[in-house]
Amino acid sequence: MRHAVLAALSALILASPALAQERQPRRDLILECMACHGDDGIAKDREVPHLAGQNYAYLLKQLHDFQKGRRPHKEMRVMSRQLTEFELEEIADFYARLPREPKP
Ligand code: HEC
Repeated sequence: MRHAVLAALSALILASPALAQERQPRRDLILECMACHGDDGIAKDREVPHLAGQNYAYLLKQLHDFQKGRRPHKEMRVMSRQLTEFELEEIADFYARLPREPKP
């Protein structure tokens, strides 16, 4: 009995941070994007587009197109393939809200 209570309690404790995180794009996913698109959505590499402040609907469409292969690009297809619809929307929202100019 005590074990059951303990197990239930630890399940609750383990579940709550996960619940809180669900409202934000998974940090580890964004970290992967940052490697190419910059920490603030402003890419350092000239061949990589800036994402900060881009229109939400446009970002979401590009992610769908990469995922479905309608916009061919090897890296972006790999990156988008693992994302759920919810994650795509959250990521598009995240980048759309970032300021267009990097912080001075
Ligand atoms: C290996 C480097 C790399 C990684 C990692 C990467 N991208 Fe990209 N991304 C690119 C490149 C390069 C392009 C330009 C594609 C092209 O030339 O069509 C691009 C294009 C895009 C575009 C289209 C932008 C536009 O203006 O049309 C979006 C949106 C995007 N990436 C989102 C993401 C997201 C979200 C992640 C993380 C899940 C991610 N990228 C991870 C390299 C990367």
